[in-house]
Amino acid sequence: MRDDQNAVALVTGGNRGIGRALCKQLAEAGMLVLLAGRDAAGGEEAARSMKNLKGRVDFLTMDVTDPESIRAAEEVVRRQYGRLDVLVNNAALYLDEGKRLTEIDPSLLELILKTNTLGPYHVIRAFLPLMQARQYGRIVNISSGYGEAAAMDHPGTGAYKLSKLALNALTRLIASEITPDIKINAVCPGWVRTGDGRACGSTQRRGSRRFDHLADSAGRGWPKRRLLPGWSAYCLVAATSIT
Ligand SMILES: NC(=O)c1ccc[n+]([C@@H]2O[C@H](COP(=O)([O-])OP(=O)(O)OC[C@H]3O[C@@H](n4cnc5c(N)ncnc54)[C@H](OP(=O)(O)O)[C@@H]3O)[C@@H](O)[C@H]2O)c1
Repeated sequence: MRDDQNAVALVTGGNRGIGRALCKQLAEAGMLVLLAGRDAAGGEEAARSMKNLKGRVDFLTMDVTDPESIRAAEEVVRRQYGRLDVLVNNAALYLDEGKRLTEIDPSLLELILKTNTLGPYHVIRAFLPLMQARQYGRIVNISSGYGEAAAMDHPGTGAYKLSKLALNALTRLIASEITPDIKINAVCPGWVRTGDGRACGSTQRRGSRRFDHLADSAGRGWPKRRLLPGWSAYCLVAATSIT
């Protein structure tokens, strides 16, 4: 962070899965990490498990579907930490594997969009002013290969796919709106073995390692138009849109 040892990072859904591994890595890189989650007991336990790292990890209560919870979290960050350098929108639901949009209960689609797409939107809106105040910010939206346009031609997991497609679009739209001192991107971690029991090939640690580049770029300034290993095509498009 311009060699700034006081950088503050926030990871939504940091209590488990990829988010938890990301919190650890950002703290290992020396950042003060706000491990955000909706469940205080689980989140505090996760933060406690990350003691003795280079950077401190504090728990922050935040439900990304609850505007009041987001507002309260922003107030805590502004008052207690006074800055936010890195925001990782990681929290998401994956509840419709293999299910067709035309057959699921519409309330499931609404919940998934509320969490995976509108959640990041509201969180970005709440925390952007803190970044703008210091003319610095790195926002990373955790997306999925399921959000690629080509994935829409195949049935199944429709609610999740739609939520990530929209998240990619949101990323590009916000990239077009913000000033160049704040960078936003979307990234796919690939298949990662996490708490929800997805069939997949990679460990949480390995999946989150793909984000080393992002933590690194957050620390040293975004390398313009650099292609990152493991990134999907839509991510590259998003990356070029933030130069
Ligand atoms: N794992 C994969 O193979 C894979 C592949 C592609 C993309 N991704 C993406 O990577 C990210 C992390 O995935 P993961 O596998 O680590 O997921 P995970 O293990 O299911 O964890 C999801 C996290 O999101 C949190 N969350 C859900 N709803 C929330 C809400 N309303 N407010 C706050 N937190 C909420 C959960 O908190 P609770 O503990 O309270 O439920 C949990 O911490 C997601 O964006 C996912 O779409 C994952």
